[in-house]
Amino acid sequence: MSIKIHDKEFRVMIPEEQIQKTIAAMANKMNNDLSGKDVIFIGILNGSFLFAADLMRHINLDSRITFLKVASYEGTTSTGTVKRLIGINEDLKGKTVVVLEDIVDTGNTMTSIVKQLNGYEPKEILIATMLLKPTVFKDQFKLDYVGEEIPDVFVVGYGLDYDGLGRNYQDIYSLAEKLSGNFFHNIILFGAPGSGKGTQAKMIIDKHNLVHLSTGDMLRAEIEANTKTGQEAKQLMKGGGLVTDELALRMIENKLMLNKGTSGFIFDGFPRTIEQAKGLDALMKRKGMEISVMLALRVDDKVLTDKLLERGKVGNRKDDTPEIIKNRLRIYHATTKQVGDYYKKQGKLIDVNGEDTVGNVFNVISRAINNL
Ligand code: AP5
Ligand code: MG
Repeated sequence: MSIKIHDKEFRVMIPEEQIQKTIAAMANKMNNDLSGKDVIFIGILNGSFLFAADLMRHINLDSRITFLKVASYEGTTSTGTVKRLIGINEDLKGKTVVVLEDIVDTGNTMTSIVKQLNGYEPKEILIATMLLKPTVFKDQFKLDYVGEEIPDVFVVGYGLDYDGLGRNYQDIYSLAEKLSGNFFHNIILFGAPGSGKGTQAKMIIDKHNLVHLSTGDMLRAEIEANTKTGQEAKQLMKGGGLVTDELALRMIENKLMLNKGTSGFIFDGFPRTIEQAKGLDALMKRKGMEISVMLALRVDDKVLTDKLLERGKVGNRKDDTPEIIKNRLRIYHATTKQVGDYYKKQGKLIDVNGEDTVGNVFNVISRAINNL
């Protein structure tokens, strides 16, 4: 569903049901962590009034709540100017203060709030935020309770406003225009083993400031480091089989939120099953992002096999042996190929002739990205 506020259109990013579930989980954690402490919650006005109200309904601690005011936003971009805290009437000395904020982006506002609150000599200051923008957050303080992580997009609803309006909506909405400025691209590089995904990804990230997420590289790193995930993956990858969808999705989700200030992601070797594609779509939706395009490198099986055998002679890929290559290609045709149709139905598939030279393939891909 979309709504219009002033001149702009917004669409649902986090539905009410999910917000309420998240808040209940946050409250639950606070009830466990803060039991026996002398707690005072401080809601930061205006944005946190709904969050604070809904959270308090689940809090079963003997605690107080008060509200302070700070103004930090004008229009759709952060002004970076933080005004003084207004309204401290309570005695905070020796108390556990839990600051309730609707959103933390760079963290500059919160830094100033914490600095000012410290002057009242509380025992400790904990920070709870309904939303966090990890890609712009400067990590200058610890966040004790985080509801939802979102990309660097402008959001309204559920207490958040756009020039004063929109605070009354139950859901959280993001700008319906292109997400996060003009350059937010999430690209899937698709193709059979040996089609050139890795080769092209490395060239694209340099030119377009994108982050390369290759599940194959991640798995090989886990195996190298002999982690629990690596041990689990080793057996499956040895014969050219796939690791579980759950593992692939978990690795992607973890990496997605670790990367700050990027203009988007290149997925290489992922998604490899329909389940992974559905999982990725859901994950993207939760984060207010979407897949921009799937670029599919088309290469004949015979050419693929030759290239991989060639790489096997010099490279360090343990799976470049005749038998395993055969199995990787078999799995690609049986399971992975259908993922192309999944994105074709969404109108996002672009076929690229992967049998051309590396440079020519790159030019075709680059043009497609520039046209997004
Ligand atoms: P992964 O690492 O993804 O391997 P892959 O899909 O088999 O593909 P490759 O990395 O071998 O090939 P590529 O397309 O990147 O081509 P490259 O650029 O290297 O996965 C490995 C394993 O991990 C899987 O088998 C599975 O077990 C597991 N796994 C990974 N992701 C998973 C997931 N999501 N779910 C479950 N399991 C997962 O090029 C190949 C060669 O060709 C190179 O030598 C290159 O120099 C050469 N070359 C490239 N382009 C050209 C060109 N245009 N002309 C001539 N030569 C070229
Ligand atoms: Mg690769």
